[in-house]
Amino acid sequence: MPDPFRHYEGVPVIDLPADPPAPDIPALAVLANHKGTDESAGWIAFLSRLLFYSASISAAKQAPSGDRYALRVNPSSGNLHPTEFHFGCSNGIYHYRVSSHMLEQRATGDFGSLEFLLTTIVWREAWKYQSRAYRYCLHDLGHAWQSLALAAAAIGCESRAVGNFDDDTVSKRYGLAEDEWPMLLVRIHGGPAFPEAEKNEWMGGIPNRLSTETVPYPWIEEMHAATRITHPPGVPTDWQVIEHAFPNGPAFGEVVRRRRSALDFRGGDETIGYEQLMTLLESATSPQNADFASESFVELYFYSHRVSGLPPGVYRYTPGKEFSNLMLGDQRVAAAGLSLGQDLAGNSCIAFSMIGDLERAARLHGDRGYRYVHFEAGAIGQRLYIAAEALGFQSTGIGAFFDDSVHDYLGIERTSGRQVVYHFACGYAVEDDRLVPGPDISIRSESSPPE
Ligand SMILES: Cc1cc2nc3c(=O)[nH]c(=O)nc-3n(C[C@H](O)[C@H](O)[C@H](O)COP(=O)(O)O)c2cc1C
Repeated sequence: MPDPFRHYEGVPVIDLPADPPAPDIPALAVLANHKGTDESAGWIAFLSRLLFYSASISAAKQAPSGDRYALRVNPSSGNLHPTEFHFGCSNGIYHYRVSSHMLEQRATGDFGSLEFLLTTIVWREAWKYQSRAYRYCLHDLGHAWQSLALAAAAIGCESRAVGNFDDDTVSKRYGLAEDEWPMLLVRIHGGPAFPEAEKNEWMGGIPNRLSTETVPYPWIEEMHAATRITHPPGVPTDWQVIEHAFPNGPAFGEVVRRRRSALDFRGGDETIGYEQLMTLLESATSPQNADFASESFVELYFYSHRVSGLPPGVYRYTPGKEFSNLMLGDQRVAAAGLSLGQDLAGNSCIAFSMIGDLERAARLHGDRGYRYVHFEAGAIGQRLYIAAEALGFQSTGIGAFFDDSVHDYLGIERTSGRQVVYHFACGYAVEDDRLVPGPDISIRSESSPPE
């Protein structure tokens, strides 16, 4: 099990102020593309707020052995957290040290306006999930992207993701450790002025070693190599603004820090309402701002178990349109069975199969499109997590499912170029007695033995 925290040692660090003010705009309003405001005093307070509500430690669990481990605002398959957050700005290059809510300054110099680079350390997932880990890393990245984009909106900023870049150039610009792969740039627009650099100096720092040995997974290397770009065409940067009705409900800051994955759901009579379902679906599928998102590649099929006003069955949702019914009848056993026998997919009120059009993505973006489809699925998952929490129930991302059985069950032809890319479930969570009680936990703890 590799260390879940990356540090670049030997560089100056900046303490980010603890407990920055919680964005009070309703979470559902952020999901409907409204923006909050920010009164942070200066760029460090702004960054503290942005990262505290998108990527920081937000809770802890205690294993039966007594060891405590950290949970974060952004979810992650197996709580293994392969995604790292770096950024460049007008005074340098920084890496976010999640374990202590600090910045590591890796370079001083003018690196332009604020741009995050999200990287993945695939070994953090591969030691456990082997070759399938590559997909989980891409989902995770999609969740992290959306976590950052929503926090940026909650504090009054626009964000735009860029997936079309030359991998080697970006790795070099950010001086990435060999085990970190660049995955997505997220440009943030509308924050405070950042100071200018006084000198140009590359400090870099020494990346910590995550484990004493690593095991190569050739399929992962192949998938990654096939989806690299060496000479991207120019990408225009435009800022898309979409306005919707302003929904109320609990505040964004509160919702994102209390969000947790359900271990399982209470399978009783509790239902979610039809209106809630519509809010959930609309929140999840609202257009995303990215250079690969002019078309959506992911369609939501869902297994309705307990939604008031909607008979149990399988449905297919097309954003902005009615959804169509594919079959009627109790789907609880089927949904759990398809999700690798995980009961939570049957005990939820609603479970999803996200179907990605890999063929169309590849036609538009070449093999790089494979990454984009999974980023989109992860982003939809992140929006489902936040919408469900704001509506008073919970969720769990499900990366483990039987691909071909899902295709057979839903009638997805092997020749169609469409494939299941992610599962998800929403409902009422059972209590998790491993959660350490308390209003919040210290974010200055460097030690957090993982799951
Ligand atoms: C891409 C992805 C796949 C996941 N797959 C599963 C799964 O198959 N089964 C499950 O019980 N939880 C799954 N989870 C939930 C994680 O276990 C959970 O996010 C992690 O333990 C951290 O807990 P938190 O979400 O409460 O922060 C998944 C999460 C993500 C982001």
